[in-house]
Amino acid sequence: MQFQEVLKRRVSTRDFEARALPEGAVKALLDAALYAPVGMHRYETLHLSVITDKSVLERIRQCAVRASGNENADALHGAPLLIVVSTSPEGGIGALNVSCLIENMLLAATDLGLGNLYVRGVITEAAKDAALVGDMKVPAGFTPVASVAVGYAKSEPAPRETPKNDVTKIDFVG
Ligand SMILES: Cc1cc2nc3c(=O)[nH]c(=O)nc-3n(C[C@H](O)[C@H](O)[C@H](O)COP(=O)(O)O)c2cc1C
Repeated sequence: MQFQEVLKRRVSTRDFEARALPEGAVKALLDAALYAPVGMHRYETLHLSVITDKSVLERIRQCAVRASGNENADALHGAPLLIVVSTSPEGGIGALNVSCLIENMLLAATDLGLGNLYVRGVITEAAKDAALVGDMKVPAGFTPVASVAVGYAKSEPAPRETPKNDVTKIDFVG
């Protein structure tokens, strides 16, 4: 896919099919993450959990149920894959790095024709559950910050011809 088309096609998906991803998709997503810029080359301050285990996904989903008090809360929208990005405090700019990895994965998923969603809220809740963090294989000293949910979208929206964001003010200096 041409880069401009990827940009226009990337939208948040909140209704995924349960079926597994095509072969090679996880590798393509992880490659994209590892091409991302990382401040001061502090690659060792980042960790990725590639989660397809249904019981772990359900426990993460339950964090949103507990936090919202809404039994139907579904922060993962049925996605069969969640890649959680964690950081250690060294370097001090962990969350900024996390977003670079995640955006690369969102764009890579779009390029593969897969639905994708930047998921932060429920990860903040999941990070408070030490047993769950352990089962996500997050190393000691690391904190889960955000994630990307990926799967086939139940319906594929048409590419946007203009950005959704027509609000952010832009000033030209010079
Ligand atoms: C930092 C960040 C955190 C986000 N967290 C969530 C989230 O927890 N749950 C969710 O459904 N969407 C989340 N989103 C997705 C945004 O709601 C979405 O990108 C925004 O509404 C614009 O829509 P679009 O992605 O279709 O362009 C997040 C996006 C960003 C950049």
